[in-house]
Amino acid sequence: MSLPEKVLELARWAPSGDNSQPWRFRIVSEREIEVYGYDTRSHCVYDLDGWSSELAHGMLLETIAIAATAYGARAHFTLPGDAMQRRDAATGEMRPLRYGVRLETDSTLRPDPLAPFIVARSVQRWPMYPRVLGPAERQSIEEAARPLQIKWFASWPERARIAALCMKNARIRMTIPEAYSVHRAVIAWGSRSSEDRLPDRSLGAGPVLLAMMRYAMKSWPRLQRVNRWTGTLLPRVELDFLPGLLCSAHAAVVAEREPTSLAERIAAGRAIQRVWLTATKLGMQMQPQHTPLVFARYARRGQRFTSSPKAVSEAATVAAELEAAFAGMEPANVAWLARIGPARRLRGRSLRLPLDRLIVGEPPPALPQPASG
Ligand SMILES: Cc1cc2nc3c(=O)[nH]c(=O)nc-3n(C[C@H](O)[C@H](O)[C@H](O)COP(=O)(O)O)c2cc1C
Repeated sequence: MSLPEKVLELARWAPSGDNSQPWRFRIVSEREIEVYGYDTRSHCVYDLDGWSSELAHGMLLETIAIAATAYGARAHFTLPGDAMQRRDAATGEMRPLRYGVRLETDSTLRPDPLAPFIVARSVQRWPMYPRVLGPAERQSIEEAARPLQIKWFASWPERARIAALCMKNARIRMTIPEAYSVHRAVIAWGSRSSEDRLPDRSLGAGPVLLAMMRYAMKSWPRLQRVNRWTGTLLPRVELDFLPGLLCSAHAAVVAEREPTSLAERIAAGRAIQRVWLTATKLGMQMQPQHTPLVFARYARRGQRFTSSPKAVSEAATVAAELEAAFAGMEPANVAWLARIGPARRLRGRSLRLPLDRLIVGEPPPALPQPASG
C-alpha cells in the first residue's frame, strides 16, 4: 500500500451523519490526495444547507491528520474558498468541495496518541451508566475541544432538561414526511452491521419498538396511521428521554461565533473529532444529538424544511428552549451537542465502504444515494 492508501484506510473510519460517508478520494501522487467533499442536501432534511456534511468533512480531515502521524507523516490541507461556485452552471448539479491534502514525511514525528482510537470510536445510542465525570476527564475533553469550548450539562436536572428538549425535537423527526424518506433509506433492517447505512441494532431500540418501527415504516400512510393510533410518546421516551437521562453528561462544543464560513465549520468538525476520540481514549462513548441544533437553525433562519406547519412551530419551540438552556450564550455558536458516558458493548455498528470504492478518478462522480432499505 502507498502512504496515501495507508492513511485513508484508517481515516475512512471518520464519522458522518447517517453513515453517509460524503467523500471520495483521488490519489494524486505518492504524497498528495484530493478529497471530494459532497453533501446530502438533495435528499436529507438534516443537511439542507450542507453544514452537517461539512462538519463531517472537518472530522474526516482531522482523522486524516491523526492517521498520517501513525505513518510518520504530517498532513497539510488546502480548503476551497467560500467563493467557489458550487452549482455547475450547465447541469445545475452541485459540485463537490475539493480539499487538497499534502503528506510530508518526518522521521522525528511521534504518532498522535489518539491514532489507536480511530477505529474503536463509535456512536452509542443505548442508555449508558450515569457515572459522574471526574475533573481530569472533563479537563482532557475541554483541552481536546480547543479553541472551541465545552459547556457541560451534567447534574440530573440539567440532563433531564436536555433529554426533554431532545424528546420534544424527536416529534419533528417522527412526524414529517421529509424525515421519513431519510430514515427509510438509511436504516438497514435486521442487521448488526452495514457498510453504508445504520444497522437497526445500533439505533438504541429494544426488540418490541424495533418491530413496531419496521412495521410502521413500510409506507408513509402506514406510519401516519400508527402515529395516530399509538402516538409517538413510547419511541421518544425509549430513544431520547431515557438515554438523555442515562449518561454522564451532555457536552456542547461551542465556537466563538456561528460557523458561517466553510473554514469555521471545518475547524469545528476537527475539534469535535478530537473530542470524540479523546472520549474513546478515556473509555467513554458519545451519541451526537445533532438534529435539535439543525431544526433550531432552520427556525432561526426561516429555512423551509417541511410541508408540516405544526413541525415548523415545534422547531421554533426547540430553538427557544435551546436558547434558554444555553442562557447567556449565543445558541447559534453551538456547533455540537452530544451525550457522553462510560463505554458499553455495541449491539450494532456502522462499518465503512471499502477503500477501493472510496477511491475515484477525475472528474469526481456523483455521490450514489443509499438504496431504500
Ligand atoms: C455531523 C454528524 C451528525 C450526526 N448526528 C447524529 C444524531 O443526531 N444522532 C445520532 O444518533 N447519531 C448521529 N451521528 C452519528 C452517526 O450516525 C455515526 O457517526 C455514523 O453512523 C457512523 O457510525 P460510528 O460513529 O459508529 O462509526 C452524527 C454524526 C455526524 C458526523
